[in-house]
Amino acid sequence: MSQDITLRTEGLTKRWGPFVANSDVSLTFEPGARHALIGPNGAGKTTFINLLTGGFMPSSGKVYLGGEDITHLPQHQRVRRGMTRTFQLNTLFAGMTVLESVALAICERRGLQSVWYKTVAKHADVIDEAMALLATLKLTDQANSVTRSMAYGKQRLVEIALALATKPRILLLDEPAAGIPQAESKELFEVLAQLPRDVTVLFIEHDMGLVFRFADRITVLVGGKVLTEGTPAEIAADQRVKEVYLGEAEHG
Ligand SMILES: Nc1ncnc2c1ncn2[C@@H]1O[C@H](COP(=O)(O)OP(=O)(O)OP(=O)(O)O)[C@@H](O)[C@H]1O
Ligand SMILES: [Mg+2]
Repeated sequence: MSQDITLRTEGLTKRWGPFVANSDVSLTFEPGARHALIGPNGAGKTTFINLLTGGFMPSSGKVYLGGEDITHLPQHQRVRRGMTRTFQLNTLFAGMTVLESVALAICERRGLQSVWYKTVAKHADVIDEAMALLATLKLTDQANSVTRSMAYGKQRLVEIALALATKPRILLLDEPAAGIPQAESKELFEVLAQLPRDVTVLFIEHDMGLVFRFADRITVLVGGKVLTEGTPAEIAADQRVKEVYLGEAEHG
């Protein structure tokens, strides 16, 4: 593995007309962190992730990845530099098996563009890498299942497998457990907790139980601004955070 990559923002601001969705957000994401971004609906969390991935361009401010200014890089070049978000399973992937989908994503990363999924099986090393990835995500038993026939929680894990197929150093997850039953979301986070530490995970999550169990660092965003940042213990003890969450944050 190459050296650790730190993701950092400096004064990141996003305006739509007079509306300020992100205001002067300066954050550092340390290598190996499990960093949660929390805050009420409309706080600007998804906007922030979009500024990191290049989905939106900031009105002002900078994004640095491993010291390099990537503020204006297109999305695919950020992925190539090691920062990936989960992709929604599209209809093509949904009709394929889990193994085919992940193998295709690995082929794309390796630049084997001419390889269509029917011929992926000829690339034994691709299959080996795909199966290793599926084992990490506890999807081995589902390797030959068609993705769209699987439980939502498992489909979310396939989305994470596709993101991991790009070999990210930083994985961005916007509410990975949204819309899946609670038992499955707990299982999903248990799998995420076992990901190797050479992948930094930045995630948005509304379930404070999951946040406090999984995160080692928490940033609270309110009204587009950073209210505070700290360890789970510090955030749980912060009176301002309690006020924002009306007691919800006392889970820690
Ligand atoms: N493309 C856009 N154009 C204009 N306003 C936008 C756009 N995208 C988001 N907003 C506004 O920016 C604010 C922050 O939205 P954002 O989606 O980042 O919040 P969030 O913290 O992710 O909320 P949630 O927890 O509900 O997902 C909201 O008021 C939203 O309406
Ligand atoms: Mg959001």
